[in-house]
Amino acid sequence: MTTSPPVLEVVRDAAAVAHAAADEIQELITGRPAAVLALPTGRTPLPLYAELRRRYQAGHIDFGQVQTFNLDEWVGLGPDHAGSYARFMREQLFSHVNLRPENCHLPNGLAPDLAAECAAYEELIQRAGGFGLAVLGIGRNGHIGFNEPGTPFDSRTHVALVTEETREANRWSFPPGVDPPDRAITVGIATLLEAERILLLVTGAEKAAALERALRGPVDPLVPASALQLHPRVRVIADAAAAHHLDADARTRGG
Ligand code: F6R
Repeated sequence: MTTSPPVLEVVRDAAAVAHAAADEIQELITGRPAAVLALPTGRTPLPLYAELRRRYQAGHIDFGQVQTFNLDEWVGLGPDHAGSYARFMREQLFSHVNLRPENCHLPNGLAPDLAAECAAYEELIQRAGGFGLAVLGIGRNGHIGFNEPGTPFDSRTHVALVTEETREANRWSFPPGVDPPDRAITVGIATLLEAERILLLVTGAEKAAALERALRGPVDPLVPASALQLHPRVRVIADAAAAHHLDADARTRGG
């Protein structure tokens, strides 16, 4: 297998990022109805999930056999907590499309034995055959999933300490007065790198520096997303604001 660097595609805005990402997901599921997807939460994928809901309602995507694995979940939050990623996913996607509940996986943030929960989640991913497509966002500090700077590239699903900066960046998704936890269960970098394909979505000028370091800087655990340079099939879809430090590759389109 010959490796090739991540392909950067720059489109006009967040809506165009969502559209291009939905095209890839739709194409994958059409060709492989039982596709296994890794999915992110956060602000970045909100327009993508809206677009997937729309395409499902229009009859363009059938999620009936698809399996999903979320990248992460907060430690200490149950699925009904307003800040939990389980709830986020139900509200944004799961309850709107024909994904079967038993095919939608998230780590259990309330597990009494967190190490056992991490091992079980990793095992579930492996039993599903790994990710056919891992959809990722990126943190301002270059994190992917909740693999914060310094996380070893050979990491598997584990409990991560969430940096103060990342907690602040997530405050919007919590009710007023409720602090984001300081720990989360996250899929590890090694597991992500085993995905057949990776789709990194990046929007907004505040991500420009992280994107540049991820794609053009050295491969370094201090920039977790730089690990993507080691994967042979990474497609990065960025809006113009996020990509303004970078020369896009040949497949650039839009403004
Ligand atoms: C969330 C996740 C994180 C986010 C990243 C960007 O499941 O894995 O890595 O993708 O923190 O978050 P937003 O999109 O809110 O800027």
